[in-house]
Amino acid sequence: MLLFSTSLRILTDRQTAPRMTDTPHTTDSYSERRPDLAAHWMPFTANRQFKAAPRLMSSASGMYYRDIEGRNILDGVAGLWCVNLGHGRPEITAAVHRQIDTMDYSPPFQMGQPAAFELANRLVQHTPGELDHVFFTNSGSESVDTALKIALAYHRLRGEGTRQRLIGREKGYHGVGFGGISVGGMVNNRKFFGSLLTGVDHLPHTLNVEHNAFSRGQPHWGRQLADELESIVALHDASNIAAVIVEPVAGSAGVIVPPAGYLKTLREICDRHGILLIFDEVITGFGRLGSPFAAQHYDVVPDIITSAKGLTNGAIPMGAVFVSKTIYDTFMQGPDNAIELFHGYTYSGHPVACAAGLAALDIYERENLFHRVTDIAGYWEDAAHSLKDKPHVRDIRNQGLIAGIELEARDGKPGERAFDVYLKCFEKGVLIRTTGDVIALSPPLVIDTTEIDQLFSTISDALDTVR
Ligand SMILES: Cc1ncc(COP(=O)(O)O)c(C=O)c1O
Repeated sequence: MLLFSTSLRILTDRQTAPRMTDTPHTTDSYSERRPDLAAHWMPFTANRQFKAAPRLMSSASGMYYRDIEGRNILDGVAGLWCVNLGHGRPEITAAVHRQIDTMDYSPPFQMGQPAAFELANRLVQHTPGELDHVFFTNSGSESVDTALKIALAYHRLRGEGTRQRLIGREKGYHGVGFGGISVGGMVNNRKFFGSLLTGVDHLPHTLNVEHNAFSRGQPHWGRQLADELESIVALHDASNIAAVIVEPVAGSAGVIVPPAGYLKTLREICDRHGILLIFDEVITGFGRLGSPFAAQHYDVVPDIITSAKGLTNGAIPMGAVFVSKTIYDTFMQGPDNAIELFHGYTYSGHPVACAAGLAALDIYERENLFHRVTDIAGYWEDAAHSLKDKPHVRDIRNQGLIAGIELEARDGKPGERAFDVYLKCFEKGVLIRTTGDVIALSPPLVIDTTEIDQLFSTISDALDTVR
């Protein structure tokens, strides 16, 4: 009954919303052809396994994808933590169309276009503290590398050029650039790629199933792990340390929620030693925890925030780095005709991405979606923890509209059991995501209680059937 009424909703949306698949090109649309899979080297994918049994999406609307077989698939992960507003928002489509029709591109170096300035001005109305300047990028990875470079250059401009060390954290994910994988702490993302950046050190991660299994929200054990930063400072000396970068909630390593007091302690230690604190908010930004950024949720203001994903609702690639006024002002020195930061991308502040960002921001503001998660977080938490006694479940972690369900790994085959659950859910019309043996969930912020029920009951059935 539930699926039936949902299908009806999709059909209605598809009839009224302006959609690519409704254009005269429909019959020739790439999205509806069954492609030859040979040439495309897919990212973060088991290529041979996938190509033997592909899962191909063809359209999306609201909370649902439709796959190439014509089946509706509930989106339990907002695409890849990015489609926060739900799919196929007509306002974003229209804004993108209007912008590409008016001006497809203009160079961002020594030249500007109004939408970039407007988007920057509007975004900083939602940032915490004095983070009132924005540098645009095209992805989370670029945002991270940009933030690390800004941190290094900032100290140098202040005459503290010895501050070159960067501190990340075990299990951290900061994208796939060399900077990001160096400060990141996911072993498979690092071990194939040489010696990486020098001068990097790592805090211990905060995942501890023995102490914190089945915590609801922030675990109470683990604040003291932030004190390890003092040991790192003692080892290297503060005069050599530029910045600490952490995800407020680690996503890719399997949903690791910060212990109560942990982020505040990091902030205090950074302040004590003149170290910049960078929050990588690529997944926690744009309403995921019930506030525009995790910084507001945890009441800890970093010096730099990196973001991407929800910024344009995933419709057009874009990232943004927010920096404090103090950092920006430090760069604004020397002769007026000097370029202050030798960094930027051909597509920084791309007009079409800005149009998508502005349209997305209109929706976040109009529908109060930066705060909506506070209304449903309790229901979400209960639904996630209802899986506690299911087979194979080792831990459940949640915060805002994020949940991680950690399974016992099969002997000698890490990740295999969770991936079987993923395949079973997909068969039953629900898209989840797995990272190792953790099912990581992060649906669009517009999910309703019926859809939350569908998501968790499908996972529950899958857990009953995998061995
Ligand atoms: C915390 C964090 N930082 C950076 C990134 C990298 O973003 P992108 O894939 O857009 O480069 C991600 C992607 O999931 C992320 O979760």
